[in-house]
Amino acid sequence: MKINAERPSLYQHSACNIWTDAYIQQQLLKEHLKTSSDGASRNAESIQKIVDFISVHTCPAISLLDLGCGPGLYASRLKDRGYAVTGVDFNKASVDYARRERTDINYLLADYIKDYPAGRFDAVLMIYCDFGTHSDNDRSRLLKNICNSLDKGGKFIFDVFTPGLIRDKQESRSWDYAPSGGFWSEDEYLLLSQTFHYPDAKAFGYQYNLVTESGNKHFIIWERYFSEEEITTVLKLAGFSRVAVYKGVAGGNDFTSNSEMFVVAEK
Ligand SMILES: C[S@@+](CC[C@H](N)C(=O)[O-])C[C@H]1O[C@@H](n2cnc3c(N)ncnc32)[C@H](O)[C@@H]1O
Repeated sequence: MKINAERPSLYQHSACNIWTDAYIQQQLLKEHLKTSSDGASRNAESIQKIVDFISVHTCPAISLLDLGCGPGLYASRLKDRGYAVTGVDFNKASVDYARRERTDINYLLADYIKDYPAGRFDAVLMIYCDFGTHSDNDRSRLLKNICNSLDKGGKFIFDVFTPGLIRDKQESRSWDYAPSGGFWSEDEYLLLSQTFHYPDAKAFGYQYNLVTESGNKHFIIWERYFSEEEITTVLKLAGFSRVAVYKGVAGGNDFTSNSEMFVVAEK
């Protein structure tokens, strides 16, 4: 039986990805669309607060790129406020849904790390702490592309976990048996979950072994946290001239952790 029970090496890629797995991406789309939950997107009230925050820091009618746009919950609200919006995501179920909902938004099905969208933007968004889910190498590559796609004065607006995440997460292991299927598989499954902390790298790794009759799947999700000083340094080294950090933007919610900060970085 092939179970990956060892501590993964930092930012190790797993063979499977929850966002692109044919079955799980459909379950994630359902989670995104639950307006009262914070499961894959924040709840509707928090989304509205974040959209207001974005509006305060940008001018309508500008061109905006939403990285990891999911089903377009932010893109559609921002389009309604007059922004020209491009959304990119590699979850096909979400992009198909977003395209069906709105034909006046440019949605791209692509991996923004490997295939960053062409063109120039006045602002780039990345919401739900996805900035911290990539390896340091991929994040550096992405930041370079974001900065290059912005004109002087353009803004990168995103959220990221602070070291407060350590209060909410501990190293652990657990299992979950779903006799009639569920979030991870439509068939009976056993899910083995492990949380690992890499304090030197300021990252958590969540490892999942999904065991079903037809075989096993292995997933790892990474979460990197930053102090205000560190994120400011990272962004300035990448070419941003001004960095401002904001707390409490989304209000209280049941997100993975409430220890995130919002960052507005100006080129
Ligand atoms: C947690 S969801 C957040 C979606 C949206 N920002 C929101 O808050 O409603 C993360 C999204 O990023 C997408 N994503 C993650 N890595 C990606 C990549 N490398 N390229 C494109 N999309 C990616 C996922 O498919 C998913 O839809």
